Amino acid sequence: MAVTLRDVYGAEAGVQRARYEAALDLFTRTYGPGEVRFFRAPGRVNLIGEHTDYNHGFVMPVALDKDILLLARPRPDNVVRLSNVETDYPAFSFNIDQDIPPGPAGDWGNYARGAAQELARRLAWRLRGFDGLVVAEPPYGVPRGVGLSSSSAVTVVVALTLAILNDWHADAVTMAQLCSQAEWYVGTRGGIMDQFISLLGQRVHALFLDCRPDAQGGYETEQVPLPQGYSLLIADSGVRHENARGEYNHRVAACRAGVKLLQARYPGITHLRDVQDVAWEDLEPRLPEETTVGQLSEQGIDLGDIPGLTARTPLKVRARCRHVWTENLRVEEAVVALRDADVATLGRLLNEAHASARDDYEISCEELEHLVATAREVDGVVGARLTGAGWGGCIVALVRADAVNALEAHLSTAYAAKTGKSTSIFACRSAPGAGECSFE
Ligand code: GLA
Repeated sequence: MAVTLRDVYGAEAGVQRARYEAALDLFTRTYGPGEVRFFRAPGRVNLIGEHTDYNHGFVMPVALDKDILLLARPRPDNVVRLSNVETDYPAFSFNIDQDIPPGPAGDWGNYARGAAQELARRLAWRLRGFDGLVVAEPPYGVPRGVGLSSSSAVTVVVALTLAILNDWHADAVTMAQLCSQAEWYVGTRGGIMDQFISLLGQRVHALFLDCRPDAQGGYETEQVPLPQGYSLLIADSGVRHENARGEYNHRVAACRAGVKLLQARYPGITHLRDVQDVAWEDLEPRLPEETTVGQLSEQGIDLGDIPGLTARTPLKVRARCRHVWTENLRVEEAVVALRDADVATLGRLLNEAHASARDDYEISCEELEHLVATAREVDGVVGARLTGAGWGGCIVALVRADAVNALEAHLSTAYAAKTGKSTSIFACRSAPGAGECSFE
């Protein structure tokens, strides 16, 4: 059921209406007059729980009040035509099918193709397509390529649009699972966090998500209230790692290697989460500090279908597993801290999570270090860490509301002085999850 702009954006509904109307105008100029429906999916910032999702661990993201809009008009055939208000993102079209040929690597259309292909496979009936216009430009769109899950938001909004236009009304968890599978189409062996938060987000709440499905395929979730009187501030380092996808897949591989090696002692485990109750001291000696894909394969260990691995790919299995194991503990502690509005503990956990991400998972970089250190200099900042996959992108800081302006000013001046780069900074106002919406 469609919700109204006021339900979604609250006090911002007025400016959002202008945004929607401008988009409608462009849609009509592009595709002609007629019925148009509006769909949206938010990006996310992850408060804590990094690189734990694909290990069936715990995460705690927040949905951003920045989203991707999709204006759509159903078509009688199975064609999807998509254009974008930003001309840097060229228009494209494809036929919905169970095997949709991908566009060139890096093509934004592949997220839409992946969503359509996955839905076609799941439903196995002939789906009707749509003419669509994507709206994701600043300041209301999800910033692209900075670790705030703009690509998942595209996948989610396209899948949701297709599902609703074809009268398939799946629950949010089914949809989130489908969307996370759909993103494998682009070659990343990602987890489920981004799609879950985009669909299940709630205003003024973080989502605690246990990424291990239960026997019926369900997931434990809890909406945990964000602390009153505090803000989450996001600062973009402006750094984009060229090979983030390759590095990401190497981390997935190291974790899988850990599981395979631990299976000798703990048969039947499938993910690192399955040894979360075992003391780290018992796990550590079984995990080599460093090995390679080739050495593992000589021991009969096959890491499965992970793009980009070669026999020489080095895997720092012990440190990677230690990060995941300790991070899960931190998320569990963070949930308790949030429930108790214990901001000091939450801040400490954010700082510890950052250190683990930097030292054990090695996903930080000089610029992120600088941002985190600078943020912590400001009175009123209780914790700061890199957020998202890493290797650039953003940090998130938990800051007393009355110190937000001081933090913004200090970060932008100090970052420019140190790196010569500018940082874009904004407050994360939480938002409801993806859905169809109407003006009234
Ligand atoms: C990316 C992936 C997520 C998750 C994070 C790291 O955003 O899409 O599934 O693994 O990295 O926490």
